[in-house]
Amino acid sequence: MSGIIKKAIFPAAGLGTRFLPATKASPKEMLPIVDKPMIQYAVEEAIACNINEFVIITGKHKRTIEDHFDYAFELEDKLKKSGKKKLLKEINRLNRFKIAYIRQGYALGLGHAILCAKPFVKEEPFAVILSDDIIDTEDTLLKDMIRLYKDLEGPVLALQQVPMSEIHRYGVIDGEKEWDGVYRIKNLIEKPKIKDAPSDLAIIGRYILTPDIFDILEKSKPGKGSEIQLTDAIKKLLHKRPVYGYLFKGKRYDAGDKLGYLKATVALALKNPELSEQFRSYMLEVSEGLKNV
Ligand code: UTP
Repeated sequence: MSGIIKKAIFPAAGLGTRFLPATKASPKEMLPIVDKPMIQYAVEEAIACNINEFVIITGKHKRTIEDHFDYAFELEDKLKKSGKKKLLKEINRLNRFKIAYIRQGYALGLGHAILCAKPFVKEEPFAVILSDDIIDTEDTLLKDMIRLYKDLEGPVLALQQVPMSEIHRYGVIDGEKEWDGVYRIKNLIEKPKIKDAPSDLAIIGRYILTPDIFDILEKSKPGKGSEIQLTDAIKKLLHKRPVYGYLFKGKRYDAGDKLGYLKATVALALKNPELSEQFRSYMLEVSEGLKNV
């Protein structure tokens, strides 16, 4: 399986309005979940799939992302002198991977952010990872999608069943089941009202796409929210080739909004070897306290 998908795009140029004021001057993607920024979880997920070329789409106020994946000489020097070898290793662990940065001048939407990566991707299939959709590290969603791409030779979108009360927040598919967990997509609707939603299967932040999407994105006009929507472009792609959906049944946290972010923090803190024991007792204490409120 290794080597089929070598490139990943990490769109990180959004304005992060659901997280204001925290995102006024610093990127949402740099918000930490326990001890790592969200974008690092995303890059590590790609590395675990043998992807070795990365491009992060950045925008204004996003320079800290570049700094995060670079050497930090003063800090390294200090850690070296104080014998903190483990920390030193941890902060440099990802430095050997080459990450390219492309700036999206205006946040014109996810579709436009992906179009910005065209010169980097060229003629290869590629993965797209939205770093504010945190996938539990024990799950193998992206690996499974790459395997499916190899079998079906067509774009694969990650899907998750969501409650109808939340359906208006997602791109939603109308699909035909190919086999358990795999759908051939017939139609897509971006952020539908409950009455217009063709299913409860929502597109989440992992995609395997083919370079023919760029031709469509180049001709795309702004859709919902005056943004160039990736969903609209994939909808047009449906006329040209089969597109598949892969139903993810594991744990995902939409850390792009405050509640999802808090849930992700709690879940990952409970799994963190250094914190789990103490944090678990604290959570029990809190839940006991809540019983008396
Ligand atoms: P979101 O829909 O979460 O938008 O984008 P956002 O701007 O980040 O946040 P809100 O909705 O205003 O709170 C999904 C992903 O696409 C990227 C974002 O950075 C995020 O990773 N994106 C979005 C871009 O790179 N460029 C854009 O123009 C829009």
